[in-house]
Amino acid sequence: MTSAPLVPLPASVIHDDGAPFALTPAVRITGATDATDATGILHRLVLTRTGLHLAAVAGPTTDDDPVIELAVDGAGPAESYRLSVDEHGVSIRGADAAGMFYGVQTLGQLIAGSDRGWTIPAVRIDDAPRFAYRGVMLDVARHFHDVATVTAYLERAASLKFNVLHLHLTDDQGWRLELTRRPELTARASASAVGGAAGGFYSQADYRAIIAHAAAHHMTVVPEFDMPGHTHAVGLAYPEVAAAPVLGAGDAAGDPQPVAGEAYTGMGVGFSSLRIGESATDAFVDDVLTELAELTPGPYLHFGGDEAHGTPADEFAAFVARASRIVSQLGKTPIAWHEAGAAADLAPGTIGQYWGFVSPTDGADDRARAIVARGGRVILSPADAVYLDMKPDVSSRLGLTWANGPTSLERAYSWEPLDVVDGLVESDILGVEAPLWSETVHDLDDIDALAFPRIAAAAEAAWSPPSGAVAARDWPAFRERVGGLGALWTTLGIRFPASSEVSWTL
Ligand code: ACM
Repeated sequence: MTSAPLVPLPASVIHDDGAPFALTPAVRITGATDATDATGILHRLVLTRTGLHLAAVAGPTTDDDPVIELAVDGAGPAESYRLSVDEHGVSIRGADAAGMFYGVQTLGQLIAGSDRGWTIPAVRIDDAPRFAYRGVMLDVARHFHDVATVTAYLERAASLKFNVLHLHLTDDQGWRLELTRRPELTARASASAVGGAAGGFYSQADYRAIIAHAAAHHMTVVPEFDMPGHTHAVGLAYPEVAAAPVLGAGDAAGDPQPVAGEAYTGMGVGFSSLRIGESATDAFVDDVLTELAELTPGPYLHFGGDEAHGTPADEFAAFVARASRIVSQLGKTPIAWHEAGAAADLAPGTIGQYWGFVSPTDGADDRARAIVARGGRVILSPADAVYLDMKPDVSSRLGLTWANGPTSLERAYSWEPLDVVDGLVESDILGVEAPLWSETVHDLDDIDALAFPRIAAAAEAAWSPPSGAVAARDWPAFRERVGGLGALWTTLGIRFPASSEVSWTL
């Protein structure tokens, strides 16, 4: 066969000339029927893709039962798996439960339909991720996205082997997480959104439900409270901690000017700030970060730090240094956008999220290097490659264009993590994250329309060997592999746009 539609490309794929495995109602799933529910996930994936209900058997099977055998065997690096297929059977061995989950996702991509029925090609795959942190971010502040939308998006991401869901929970337009220590945030500052759309917020039960759903798909939730800028909404609830808006700073074409104490529904950025160095603000920051740490089982808390154009530089540096220390003292690893690299005394080990361009401008790379110099690592989110909210082409109804104009699928694919910030080595890079800001994004259809198929390019940057390091890790082969995923994505209910850069198999 030509290359199978595998995205992200596995570390090693060896195609066999032998006959494929026939997926028929007689096939049994054996092996790991453990708490990780690999069997259930495989059962549902096969059912969705083919309509076949495969039975799971706990005990031994007879020699001639065709089987898909699952096992977690502890061999190999974290999240790795081995998948082998011949005409007699399929075996997936995960090093751990996550590896098993990823092996099952790969198997789902290999299922092929023809007049003769469903088959899986004979193949041997040995796979492990390049980066430990493989993230998608969803902005639930500019437009609120309910729990069902968030869980649908995280399932899509997990199927492409992403393991982090970063939730941008707060911004000028709204505060989206209920906190018992600061109840006014959701009582007074959650009802609005861009364009006057309805706002909303997650109750603590909702937040726990998202975290549990993510964990069941081997994803860690990284929550973000963006501070000290992007905080206009905070002033609706606690006016004593909010500075007056810097008028003019936040203008976007046709946008209203922000008014202190009134909900902001525009798309401007950079006009708001907390009041730095005041005891009321310190108490606010302590409260919100403490409660966020209590609610979040994952190891990271993101405290923002981007575009604080309304905050004087010295106050900004003092603020982000203090916020990073609080997060560390709460037992979590702080993450901030790369601007935080300007602070000389950031808590050691603070992670910087780089959102400059593939070719850095304005010293964004200096900020990233400064974070590494203080013992931190970098998450790469180059805006002109992996910001999924950029228009895919000029005619797109949705999306923005500030990151060097529209971002085609080819541009989303054609970058190499090690080549973005000079001086960084592989071990300085924690991973890759693809953010989806939601100024123009209202619902799951809009998410699908912008995220797909470019999310697949980000998945490959995060998981697969470096560009060109193995056969088929290049744009012509990627295009073909993505096109081959059209049928699977359709059966999964993903409303991806049929990008003309790809020829789709549907
Ligand atoms: C950002 O795009 N302001 C992180």
